[in-house]
Amino acid sequence: MDALQALQQRVSVPRLSEPAPKGDILANIQRAAFRAADHARMRPWRFLVIEGEGRQALGELFVRAEEQRQDNLPTDKMRQRIAERPLRAPMIMVVIASPKEKPKVPEIEQWLSAGAAAQNMITAAYAQGVGAIWRTGDYAYDPLVMAGLGLNDAERIIGFLYLGTVQISPPEAPETAIDDYFQPWP
Ligand SMILES: Cc1cc2nc3c(=O)[nH]c(=O)nc-3n(C[C@H](O)[C@H](O)[C@H](O)COP(=O)(O)O)c2cc1C
Repeated sequence: MDALQALQQRVSVPRLSEPAPKGDILANIQRAAFRAADHARMRPWRFLVIEGEGRQALGELFVRAEEQRQDNLPTDKMRQRIAERPLRAPMIMVVIASPKEKPKVPEIEQWLSAGAAAQNMITAAYAQGVGAIWRTGDYAYDPLVMAGLGLNDAERIIGFLYLGTVQISPPEAPETAIDDYFQPWP
């Protein structure tokens, strides 16, 4: 697919099935992350690739986080719903912003670069016909989840990228009056 087409037409796909991207297709997605704009080429990111039973382990981590945060313990039904969240795709790429000390590159710039890496990956997925959606939710910011995934104190979860095979083609990208967002100055 033409690069402009991918950039201008990408849409998220919430319903994803097996198989997960692999081989060259997965490598293309991963390499796209490394072309994110990145002040001083700090590579202020790292990624966890979660597949197969790893998704169950992530679901259990979400359930433990829920148990810790509520005064009332979640019901069995809630527990099951939470545990099944990571099963919505065959692969989850956890995008972790991993900022480093660097006088001329403030932390916020490094978070933005990690976000750009995530965007590049979902666009590279779309360009190859792989379905993807960037999700966060409360668990992305939960200390127990962050610790369970091995983040250090400086790191943050930028997103869970759900990746897989498109089951039902999503609607096309909406038309937007983009001129409203661009103003000449002064
Ligand atoms: C940082 C971030 C977090 C997001 N978290 C969620 C989420 O938890 N659940 C969700 O349904 N969409 C979430 N989204 C939005 C979707 O990824 C998607 O962009 C949105 O549904 C619009 O669809 P589109 O990408 O096809 O325009 C998030 C987007 C970003 C950038």
